[in-house]
Amino acid sequence: MRSALFQSLLLTIAGMSLTSSPISNPMAEGTIQLAVDLYHALHCSLKENIIHSPLGAAVLLRMVQLGAKGKALNEIRQALKLQGNEDGEEFSLLQTLFSVSSEKKEFTFNLANALYLQEGFIVKEQYLHSNKEFFQTAIKLVNFQDTKACAEAISTWVEKKTDGKIKNIVSSEEFGPLTRLILVNAIYFKGDWKQKFSPEATHEMAFTKRDGSVTKIPMMNLQLRAKFGHFSDNNVSYQVLELPYKGKEFSLVLILPSEDVTIEEVEKLITAQLIKDWFAETKEDDVEISIPRFKIEQTVNLQETLHSLNVTEIFSGGCNLSGITESSDIYISKAIQKVCIEVNEDGSEAAASSTIMSMSHNQFVANRPFLFILKHNPTGKTTGFTLS
Ligand SMILES: *[C@@H]1O[C@H](CO)[C@@H](O)[C@H](O)[C@H]1NC(C)=O
Ligand SMILES: *[C@@H]1O[C@H](CO)[C@@H](O)[C@H](O)[C@H]1NC(C)=O
Ligand SMILES: *[C@@H]1O[C@H](CO)[C@@H](O)[C@H](O)[C@H]1NC(C)=O
Repeated sequence: MRSALFQSLLLTIAGMSLTSSPISNPMAEGTIQLAVDLYHALHCSLKENIIHSPLGAAVLLRMVQLGAKGKALNEIRQALKLQGNEDGEEFSLLQTLFSVSSEKKEFTFNLANALYLQEGFIVKEQYLHSNKEFFQTAIKLVNFQDTKACAEAISTWVEKKTDGKIKNIVSSEEFGPLTRLILVNAIYFKGDWKQKFSPEATHEMAFTKRDGSVTKIPMMNLQLRAKFGHFSDNNVSYQVLELPYKGKEFSLVLILPSEDVTIEEVEKLITAQLIKDWFAETKEDDVEISIPRFKIEQTVNLQETLHSLNVTEIFSGGCNLSGITESSDIYISKAIQKVCIEVNEDGSEAAASSTIMSMSHNQFVANRPFLFILKHNPTGKTTGFTLS
């Protein structure tokens, strides 16, 4: 599988208008911090590709937060780094993000969130209402005893919400007689580049995997002007490149360790502050780039991940989810996230090959493991969005 090549990937979708806005944005800050916490937590439990969406995890936690009390609530607030009482504002920032998943030509950004509860329980009206208002979340009742029908219902719903891109998110083995409540989050992203790669320029090239073995993969090539920078922290050097997607709302930030540096060394450096520095310090420059064409999808059991962020109460009997339903024997059995991202040549404008570019000595050749971040650059425009 091609996806096994990268062995280390970071996917974060967050409202990060940090470089353009002098006003610090608590939600964006919190999301970056959560991204970093989750990344390090996941890194301990997964040995291969790491692709996850902190946005998705944040949304699931917030869905639960709306119905959680006491210890359960406190743990969530701590994991999300919420201070004080600015919930309203934070929720509205999430709403802005949701408006992104609208019908746009430039990119496909499908986001599906759902909370499935065992039939027979009664969901509080207030909870249904706030979830709909903030998260466009589906709250659904299913019969977990009928494992096959249940898995099918969940998978079909996710498939529909992601235009067929994310299939089989759950299987019937995941439910048991004690299952009462599960959380589901699915994200699919595929954007068109601002500047298109020419398919004729894509060639098979050698890629050195983390274990040192070499394989051939299709590598896309392009010369362009993009935000770029060389960094060195604690003698660990690497390059950072930001490739804009069409429509300015998203870009892909790639972090490539220098040849004599391992990906682990770069991973160890990652902090929320460092990510912000990357965004702030890269400068427009001419760069010759070679990056793999790829599609990766990964299912993450968020329960384990959240455990390492000290969110445990919501997964244990006796937790207080009385904001969701009155019954006391309700806790979350599973939190499943599936993320899929596709990167290929597609873009809006062909690379202007006739344009004279300064002879660039900047080369960005991703022929070894790299990290990437899907960055959301809120435009401030509120686009009309439909919920369906
Ligand atoms: C859950 O929390 C609410 C609000 O703090 C409290 O009124 C209720 O008694 C708690 N329920 C349980 C079972 O502890
Ligand atoms: C970086 O490498 C140089 C030369 O090897 C060494 O003198 C210096 O102490 C190193 N700095 C750090 C922060 O490791
Ligand atoms: C979880 O709790 C332990 C023990 O209190 C603490 O050492 C650790 O830093 C916490 N982890 C996170 C991510 O907050």
